[in-house]
This record gives sequence, C-alpha cells and structure tokens, in this order.
Amino acid sequence: MIIRVLMLIPDIIIAIDGYSSTGKSSFAKMIAKEFSFLYLDSGALYRGVTLFAIENGYISDDNTINVPELAAALEYVDLKFGEGGTCIGDRCIEQEIRSMAVAGKVSPIATVAEVRAFVDRKLREFGKAKRVVMDGRDIGTTVFPHAELKIFMTADPLIRARRRADEMAAKGMEANIEDVLKNLQERDYIDSHREVSPLTQAEDAIVLDNSHMTMDEQIVWVKEVIKERFGL
Ligand code: DC
Repeated sequence: MIIRVLMLIPDIIIAIDGYSSTGKSSFAKMIAKEFSFLYLDSGALYRGVTLFAIENGYISDDNTINVPELAAALEYVDLKFGEGGTCIGDRCIEQEIRSMAVAGKVSPIATVAEVRAFVDRKLREFGKAKRVVMDGRDIGTTVFPHAELKIFMTADPLIRARRRADEMAAKGMEANIEDVLKNLQERDYIDSHREVSPLTQAEDAIVLDNSHMTMDEQIVWVKEVIKERFGL
C-alpha cells in the first residue's frame, strides 16, 4: 500500500516564469494538485485578448495593432480563467487560444501596456486568495514581486519545440516542428526585449532547467526546494 504524505506548506504565492514551452503550465498544475493550490495560467489571458483582437479586427495581418480601440473594447470584455479553462462570457475558448494563429500574434499583443494593465488587474484579483501558483513571464518581477517562491524555467529550444509539437499533434492540431521552433524563438525574443515588463529572471528566483527531467523529477525537485525554503 502506498501512503502519500501530504506536505503542509504555508499560504504563499508561487510565481513560475520562463521561456515559451518550457512546461510551466504542466509544472504549475502539478504543484496546484500536489499542495491544493489555486492555479492560474497568465499566458491564457494574453492569448484570450489576442483571440479577441483577431476576431474583432484590432490586429492586422502584419501585426499592426489598433491600440486605442483595443484598449477601449477591453473595458467590456468578460475574459476569465476558471475551472472550465479560459472563457469570454459563456464561450469557452480554451482550444482556439492554443492555435498557431493565436501563437503568432500573442507576443506583439503582450507588448501593449494597456493590455498588460488589463491582464495584471485580473491576476492580482486572483492573488488575493493566497495559496496560488501562477505561471507566465513577469509574475515574479511585476505581478507579484513579493511572491514567497519564484521559479524561473528554461530548457533547450529544440526539446521545447518537440514537446510543443507533440502536445499539438495529440490535440489533433497541425504542427510542423520547424514552424513551432521558429515561433517559440520569435516569442522568446519579443518577450525578453519588450519595453513593459520584459521576461527576465527575478533576482531571487531559483532556476529550473528541465531539458532532461521528467515531471516526477520536477516535483521531487520542487518539494526539496520548498522543504529547504520553509524549514519543513
Ligand atoms: O505561456 P504562454 O505561451 O501561453 O504565453 C503566451 C504569450 O503571452 C507569451 O508569448 C508572452 C505572453 N505572456 C506575457 O507577456 N506575460 C505573461 N505573464 C504571460 C504570458
């Protein structure tokens, strides 16, 4: 018989940042399950805004963004992330926001200060709950600079592209490995070089390079980190 010993950890915010397709969401979800934390995928909100912008013509084929109109329209969008995934009002958009069409436009959209302010407001609302694990690009630097535990994730780009392509193929979506690699390198570049809240490692973040780690190994790793950090 296997007896699972529940690790009781304090009410904290865990911020997980890092490059595209490093498995941040899967890792954060596992942490949420393991420690009964609330999980929030901040990238899903940026993707939701992007889908909204595409469908309503606020971003063109060459990624020119009509910022004033998009910002004004966001005031009335009921974009949320909950048990059922990402939704706009009653419409679930979880599948659409993972498409290459959205992936190709999300980084430019995420450079817009008004979009970031909109998403940050939603994220901080969630943060009030405590016992929250959130993943993204600027959670430990901008959204929750006082998060008690910050993890910065990275992995070899080709390994990341392969994982992402496999994930898409499993969902029945078309995925060419070269396109996926190109897209994630472009996103890494834009995310790290934008003016507002660029992707950077927080000074007090711990790095996790999971290029050659299984999910179980990552969970063992995070448990050790938590034990050490909180003296458990
Ligand atoms: O984690 P993801 O791949 O779903 O994120 C999609 C995009 O959203 C990513 O390319 C950059 C942006 N993003 C961001 O700028 N800040 C965050 N906290 C989360 C995501």
